[in-house]
Amino acid sequence: MNLRVRVGRTVMAAVFITLEGPDGSGKSTQAVLLAERLRRFGLPVLLTREPGGTALGLTLRQILLEPSNKLAVMTEVLLMAADRAQHVEEVIKPALQNNMIVICDRYVDSSLAYQGFGLLQDVAKVKTINEAAIGGLWPHLTLLLDVETETGLQRHTLASRRQGRSEGLDRIEQRDLEFHRRVRQGYNRLQESDPQRFAVVDTTELGVDDVAQKVWHIVRQRLEISEPEITCTKKEGESCEVNHCRSAGSGCK
Ligand SMILES: Nc1ncnc2c1ncn2[C@@H]1O[C@H](COP(=O)(O)OP(=O)(O)OP(=O)(O)O)[C@@H](O)[C@H]1O
Ligand SMILES: [Mg+2]
Repeated sequence: MNLRVRVGRTVMAAVFITLEGPDGSGKSTQAVLLAERLRRFGLPVLLTREPGGTALGLTLRQILLEPSNKLAVMTEVLLMAADRAQHVEEVIKPALQNNMIVICDRYVDSSLAYQGFGLLQDVAKVKTINEAAIGGLWPHLTLLLDVETETGLQRHTLASRRQGRSEGLDRIEQRDLEFHRRVRQGYNRLQESDPQRFAVVDTTELGVDDVAQKVWHIVRQRLEISEPEITCTKKEGESCEVNHCRSAGSGCK
């Protein structure tokens, strides 16, 4: 691992962070918040997701998630890996070569947890296929957002209703409770086997802001981000947008 992000006297190096976890654990929500927070430090961030982080991947995503498609298990494994291979080559690698911080909403561990543990496949085989897809590009840090299975699925249903989404749950979300429980257990097994790469936040009892605080704490520690010393020059009532300062006149925090 070779992390060298220092904000005070800007030292940068490519950093690859993935967000993982069961359905409704808050990955997409936290990915956006984390990207915003890092950008406020003036750091270059690329936020992307799987499946569907490329034009080709969007087509694969449609095939993978369309409820009426009857995919064989190995077809699902291979399409996920194909999406990933394209994403790595076209998006992730170039961004890392440009010294960006890449935040990816789902990556290899999703395949291991969902297609491996969830669909009761040989996890080692799924891993081998995915290693071919990523060519050794493992994340520096994987934030595992854990959630109690029912709570995660409820959040999802609520969100769909709130947004008036008529299409309902996708092909993978529609799987039964036992599948989603195995996914959750699978993620826990994965993090136990690689505690150096993973950091876990249990989001079951936490609101979005509390999870964001925990995520930020972990990322700052792992990336060694230290607050730059900036004196806020704005008067009361004025908002300051200098780097991370959004103090609205109350001084940089
Ligand atoms: N800690 C939380 N507490 C309550 N609700 C949350 C929390 N985090 C996210 N949510 C809400 O739950 C819903 C699902 O969150 P989000 O889409 O971020 O999850 P996800 O992990 O990306 O899900 P998926 O695996 O389906 O992509 C959203 O409506 C979001 O606002
Ligand atoms: Mg999501």
